[in-house]
Amino acid sequence: MKNAAPIYQELASRLSAMIRAGTFSPGDRLPSVRQASREHQVSISTVTEAYRALEDQGVIKARPRSGYYVPPPAFDPGKIPSAARHSTKPVRIEHSAIFESVMDLAENRKVVPFAAAAPDESIIPSAKLATITHGVMRKFKSDALRYTPPMGRRELRTALSRRLLVAGIKATPDDIITTHGATEALLLALRATTKRGDLVAVETPTYFGILHLIRDLGLRAIEVPVCPGEGMMLPALETALKKHRIAACVVQPNFQNPIGSVMSPESKKRLAALSEIHGFTIIEDDVYGELSHDGSRPSSIALHGGNVIHCGSISKTVAPGLRVGWIVAGTYQPEVKRLKTIQCPWNATLSELVVAGFLDAGGYDRHLRRIRQLYSLQCARTRQAVIQHFPKDCRVNLPEGGFVLWIEMRDGFDSEAFTVDAVAKGISLVPGTLFSPSGGLRNCFRLSCGFAFGPRTLDAITTLGKLGARRC
Ligand SMILES: Cc1ncc(COP(=O)(O)O)c(C=O)c1O
Repeated sequence: MKNAAPIYQELASRLSAMIRAGTFSPGDRLPSVRQASREHQVSISTVTEAYRALEDQGVIKARPRSGYYVPPPAFDPGKIPSAARHSTKPVRIEHSAIFESVMDLAENRKVVPFAAAAPDESIIPSAKLATITHGVMRKFKSDALRYTPPMGRRELRTALSRRLLVAGIKATPDDIITTHGATEALLLALRATTKRGDLVAVETPTYFGILHLIRDLGLRAIEVPVCPGEGMMLPALETALKKHRIAACVVQPNFQNPIGSVMSPESKKRLAALSEIHGFTIIEDDVYGELSHDGSRPSSIALHGGNVIHCGSISKTVAPGLRVGWIVAGTYQPEVKRLKTIQCPWNATLSELVVAGFLDAGGYDRHLRRIRQLYSLQCARTRQAVIQHFPKDCRVNLPEGGFVLWIEMRDGFDSEAFTVDAVAKGISLVPGTLFSPSGGLRNCFRLSCGFAFGPRTLDAITTLGKLGARRC
């Protein structure tokens, strides 16, 4: 007679079958060890052994101080978008006719808002912020509603100087200038480091807001492709540096929008070294840096040296409507301060005091842990639905953090026409052309997973899948 399998193995097989059957989906947390021991009527050590065995098989993943989770669907290289084809010549960014209509729809609650890369009410800590706001008004009275000098409120700059240490940025409160979101920080960084006609290296695809700033400042762009799992492809940048004088390089090293990639410490170090060798400034856009799906916090490029201007905001982590961002400009600090004093001298005082309160004592770390899990779950579920309902040859990224999905359809697919089809069905999204400095990437589009996944989302993905198949 064969020996019966140990009880922990039986439990592991049962749990594995439950995961395959969809009782637990990607992103779901498994019951705690204690709860599982009660549910399956086995000892705590049996559950612990079963969870360890499943972890060894890659079926579940432990998250420090959080529990065991079902990881996103297995990495399928065939389904990951390829590095974008790019122009190797400098380009002038064209205005996109569809840009304003996409922006107008982004926050429209009547449509399913796949266009809005913004947290929704399930993410924004409204009740906590309301309590802090009352406390701030009681403490500061009308001072909380007065003009703030151009550097921003010291309370916020002090809180940020502590927070930035986690990313490896050593900045005193006097090294930080607060801004009207990361958008103003990026504008200041570009204005301080370039003059009209200069060449700026930008990722392709990249966040369209950066492209519009470059265009409006009369700058030219040179495209550097972003590769899933790698981030900015440095060999392409090095080729460009051999041919052109580049004034600045705008890069999102952590959870790049829209690819979701992270540059490795080695790549960050290499980029920092290149900036010193070739004399260009790295403008680091790190708005997603705190939103890893596994709880780690990747570093700023500044940790590795180089000429780095760091830009950030709380738009993706706390609330975009507070309009709180910052810039750490290093040697450019006096120039950035001069420009800020002319451009937008007064900051949003109340917002800055509230954010300072939240960062200092309001449970920001707990909030981050919660939203990282939610974003990870929402991305995994939306990705799964796309894989199920879209044509089989489409490719979807597997973001390591943040909350956007980048979908690549077959060549010839027109994402602008597809966007018009989607809007007619009450669904917004952003066509790929907006992410391309040279107006390419027409066969791609971006879906945001900033809002809770539910039946409405699933219906919308099913509809998009059908519309997409018709346009293929
Ligand atoms: C990569 C990136 N940078 C900057 C911004 C703008 O951030 P903010 O709202 O803080 O101005 C966004 C917003 O979508 C973004 O995705």
